[in-house]
Amino acid sequence: MDTILACQNISKKFLSGSEDIHVLHDVSLFVNAAESVSIRGESGSGKTTLLNILAGLESSDQGEVFWSGKAIRKKSLHRLSAERKRYLGMVFQSFYLIPELNALENVLFAARILGRVGASERKRAQDLLVRVGLGERLKSSPLKLSGGERQRVAVARALMNRPQVVLADEPTGNLDEATGKHIMDMLLAITREEDAGLILVTHNMEFASKTDRCCHLIKGRMES
Ligand SMILES: Nc1ncnc2c1ncn2[C@@H]1O[C@H](COP(=O)(O)OP(=O)(O)O)[C@@H](O)[C@H]1O
Ligand SMILES: [Mg+2]
Repeated sequence: MDTILACQNISKKFLSGSEDIHVLHDVSLFVNAAESVSIRGESGSGKTTLLNILAGLESSDQGEVFWSGKAIRKKSLHRLSAERKRYLGMVFQSFYLIPELNALENVLFAARILGRVGASERKRAQDLLVRVGLGERLKSSPLKLSGGERQRVAVARALMNRPQVVLADEPTGNLDEATGKHIMDMLLAITREEDAGLILVTHNMEFASKTDRCCHLIKGRMES
């Protein structure tokens, strides 16, 4: 089985005033191709910091992150940023859609930053929106969509460039329980259909148990 994303012995401290906060202690994790892994943990346990480090958006004090078996530390910032746009899809608690663009244009934006928006990209974006249940809302502004619908657009956008792995940081955190459940089922189904790996950060035990493998972050230490 190919490991598409991994980290080994990650430690991270933040300086807060004159104090060091040790946020991650010797954390190792791997995700195989098309595998889903959940990370559960209380607020403040280091989940978002770990995702940022896996995405190469934040550096660690110790340890290594590997994309397709290659240490990202060895890549230039320019190369890392270019590869991230293809390699990773990201979904956040607060959606981060562009209010001036409609649903279809928000999804296409992922392709636009790679510099290619042609007929096949338009078809792909439209197809993804149909698959997340928004086929009737292609031209809608995010401002006119409900929270659940906004997250559906964000999931379609995350998958637009056919990423190897999707990182989802509490994607149901701003949604009511029933809507959150629908979004979670949709996210698991569509990443499976697309053969994309998934790292799902969630507080919710039930959601976590739906992934192929569950990990638990306790005060910055990984317990599987
Ligand atoms: N940039 C930062 N500077 C200082 N402290 C930070 C920073 N980012 C996160 N922290 C601290 O690190 C700890 C873990 O944060 P975070 O990774 O966001 O946890 P979680 O996502 O599990 O709630 C918290 O105590 C938080 O205050
Ligand atoms: Mg967080």
